Amino acid sequence: MLGLYRKILGHPFVYEEVRPRVVGGIDMRPLYELLPEAARSSVLDVGCGMGDALKYLDRFESYLGVDTDAIAIEAANKRWGHLPNVRFEARTLRAEDIVDLAPTGVVLSGVLHHLTNAEAEGVLRLAAGSPRLARIITSDIVFLPGKLFNNVMAMMDRGRFCRDPDAYASLARQAGLTVQQGLTIASSPTSDRVRYYLMALSLSEAAHATGAAHTAGPEVTHATTPDAAPAASDGRSDGA
Ligand SMILES: C[S@@+](CC[C@H](N)C(=O)[O-])C[C@H]1O[C@@H](n2cnc3c(N)ncnc32)[C@H](O)[C@@H]1O
Repeated sequence: MLGLYRKILGHPFVYEEVRPRVVGGIDMRPLYELLPEAARSSVLDVGCGMGDALKYLDRFESYLGVDTDAIAIEAANKRWGHLPNVRFEARTLRAEDIVDLAPTGVVLSGVLHHLTNAEAEGVLRLAAGSPRLARIITSDIVFLPGKLFNNVMAMMDRGRFCRDPDAYASLARQAGLTVQQGLTIASSPTSDRVRYYLMALSLSEAAHATGAAHTAGPEVTHATTPDAAPAASDGRSDGA
């Protein structure tokens, strides 16, 4: 029964059409704004779903999206498969992806809350091993004190590992990364019912010094903004 519920939530129509209506619109521009120009040349999108990242990113040299959900990958290919230098594959992230692509930017949008601590740290460590890494960006549903609707929605999500901001940041630190920015945002410029926790991650000083991402970084500094102003609107809040 629970399996069926999760399958329905993951159906492309529910994900693209129903989910944004329930939460009051989804606009992930604030996430992609955390990816500086230097990080946009070779993009690795882990848990890419239907390739929503491509609504927000262009001008890259190459993009690889991987996702364990073959239906989502099929939908992604239908939407974006015609673009040059874009590839989608139905599988988990592999060490070879990091070697072959040497991504400058890694996107984990809506993924960490699907993973156990060990899985999440594993993915972050793999990503952190890219020799050209400029930034990793993450976005996830989040438990927040006093935000009843947000927290109930988070409990009903397909992903079973929703966390509070400190727990997400701790995952990054355990993987040898530094949280350059950590902030909560409203799901859209027009609705604050549901919030997401975003992180902009880079290699810690220690990992840089040793040339590897295997050392715990310095203390994470959060710029958590419980009353985050919704992202500026140009009228677009098309579900992500
Ligand atoms: C909330 S969706 C986000 C999709 C997309 N990134 C977006 O922003 O719309 C989470 C995605 O992560 C995928 N996923 C979960 N665990 C995964 C894993 N270990 N490796 C790759 N993808 C995974 C799921 O199949 C799902 O498509």
